[in-house]
Amino acid sequence: MKKLKIGIVGCGAIGSSLAKFIKKDLRNRAVLSGLYDIDGAKSAKLSKSLSLNNRLAAGSLKHLVLRSQLVIECASGHASRNIAETVLRSGRDIMIMSAGGVSGCLPVLSRLAKKNNARVYIPSGAISGVDALKAAALGKIKRVTLTTYKNPLSFSGVQFIKERGIDLSRINKDKVLFCGPAAHAVKYFPQNINVAAVLSMAGIGADKTMVKIVASPAVKKNIHEVRVESVAADITARTENILHPENPKTSYLAVLSAEAVLKQILESVRIGT
Ligand SMILES: NC(=O)c1ccc[n+]([C@@H]2O[C@H](COP(=O)([O-])OP(=O)(O)OC[C@H]3O[C@@H](n4cnc5c(N)ncnc54)[C@H](O)[C@@H]3O)[C@@H](O)[C@H]2O)c1
Repeated sequence: MKKLKIGIVGCGAIGSSLAKFIKKDLRNRAVLSGLYDIDGAKSAKLSKSLSLNNRLAAGSLKHLVLRSQLVIECASGHASRNIAETVLRSGRDIMIMSAGGVSGCLPVLSRLAKKNNARVYIPSGAISGVDALKAAALGKIKRVTLTTYKNPLSFSGVQFIKERGIDLSRINKDKVLFCGPAAHAVKYFPQNINVAAVLSMAGIGADKTMVKIVASPAVKKNIHEVRVESVAADITARTENILHPENPKTSYLAVLSAEAVLKQILESVRIGT
């Protein structure tokens, strides 16, 4: 069986972990066809650390796309739409990690994918509950709420907090910092953008999905609680994220979720919705 040629755009925390996974764990079914980063030193460093042929560090996105059958975007929410469109126009499949960058243009990507006989994959990332939400959305959904709990200090530097003069060091019990539609939440809390975007796209959209952000001195981890009320089921899914052991800049589950989607693409049996 021919190996699936996978190219990676963005060689930071997630891209590096996925490259390693493809090289080691998927070696019988897939092969790294290229690494591209806007900062050429990063793709070169990753290629070297995995003992890959240094020609794999592509000089341009176009170059990488031509060599690949599937491209994984793990670069930035500012670039993910553009990267996805370039990949789809070339008839290649795309997996998008920076979900926040494409939440407003899913119909465009869907049309491009159909026209060019390609596919778009958006992993669940750092939240659970997306599987059940997708199923419930085929019936009628009454409400979807994402409540995020983070330690107050993890909001330091956030413009929304500065503008309201909130002193994070004085928060000694749970304090709701924001409550409103996902479409607004992602503007004020860009750190939450990917989970809110995935949830909105899987369910009832960014205007109807509600987001509550809570500063909680009791928590050390980033916690996402998804609550769905629907005619088929009421669902509560709570995810307490742990940092990636090798790449503490990102959450472990986000990386594993992309790895699980890759395995799903390569396997003939699919479990879950
Ligand atoms: N879906 C989820 O749950 C989830 C979870 C964590 C991170 N993310 C998203 O995944 C993306 C990657 O995360 P990360 O932690 O690896 O970030 P990172 O900062 O460690 O790495 C990003 C890399 O992409 C490169 N880059 C930036 N813009 C680029 C462009 N236009 N073209 C090519 N390369 C570019 C940077 O130089 C950097 O090396 C981010 O957008 C992040 O928000 C999603």
